[in-house]
Amino acid sequence: MENLTEDSQRTAVSGSDLETWRSWAISESIAANVLPQEVDWVLQEVAELDRLSLKLELFRQRSKIYLKFPLSYLEQLWRHRLKDRVPIQYLVGVTPWRNFLLKVAPGVFIPRPETELIIDLAVQAVQKSSILNLNSGHWVDLGTGSGAISIGLGIIFPKAKIHAVDYSEVALAIAKENAKNLGLSSKIQFHEGSWWTPLENLKGKISGLVSNPPYIPTEILSQLQPEVKYHEPYLALDGGKDGLEAIRYLVDSAPNYLQSGGIWLIEMMAGQGKNVAQLLENSSNYHSIKILSDLAGIQRFALAYRT
Ligand SMILES: C[S@@+](CC[C@H](N)C(=O)[O-])C[C@H]1O[C@@H](n2cnc3c(N)ncnc32)[C@H](O)[C@@H]1O
Repeated sequence: MENLTEDSQRTAVSGSDLETWRSWAISESIAANVLPQEVDWVLQEVAELDRLSLKLELFRQRSKIYLKFPLSYLEQLWRHRLKDRVPIQYLVGVTPWRNFLLKVAPGVFIPRPETELIIDLAVQAVQKSSILNLNSGHWVDLGTGSGAISIGLGIIFPKAKIHAVDYSEVALAIAKENAKNLGLSSKIQFHEGSWWTPLENLKGKISGLVSNPPYIPTEILSQLQPEVKYHEPYLALDGGKDGLEAIRYLVDSAPNYLQSGGIWLIEMMAGQGKNVAQLLENSSNYHSIKILSDLAGIQRFALAYRT
């Protein structure tokens, strides 16, 4: 099933017909244990209605509302969402992240709101560093997915050269499209390959590594919600037996690539903080190691500087 960004069958309905569809979709969502707010998210995309008009149901009085698709298709789509648990972001084809919209599609990890803070933490880490011009060197986003972190860094560090790496060809194609849509193609260089492999020529020259690697322990994967376990790419989720396989690799390998004083900043899963701090301590290549919390107060990020 195509996603809603493919605007091909523009059609008009009355406000009252749309209201009937919306009420049906909301009650079906509640019955299926899916957030009813998702219905309005879809309508914002398909009917170009704003949140207030949906919340206050102002659209009911209108004689004509243009939709990107006929209501019958929308109904089919909603049944697909509820029955097959396809993430709403894949159906809508976009997701908001920080202050921009990113294209997403099956095969690419959906960037999460809790990751947004990693960009601000990178800025703070640069401000706290004694090294001059850290924000204008080479920055690396290992496992870029949709390109979210690279784009966030590209906006916040306009003088930096950003390198976005992913093993997934599908993810990289979407990341490139997102960078182009947001006018950042010239700032971000995309590399297909495993972690540092495409960046051999940057050894010792990197100002900062920012990454949200796969960190879920393999045996927990089967307990994730169906939207994640049946639809998001396994490569983006599986962190190996203890969830720390990729993080351990990034701790061990980054000292070869970071310049002295360079920043090492990653996202991890709640509960991994102590182990990640220990890995960094054991390496003896890092100083000022810190475990940082997200906006909900959950320990989610690890920060360190290359000695
Ligand atoms: C949790 S997702 C994060 C995506 C994106 N950075 C974000 O925050 O939304 C992890 C990403 O790492 C990528 N990945 C997994 N193993 C990799 C490897 N060996 N080399 C490069 N990328 C890898 C996956 O394809 C996926 O895009």
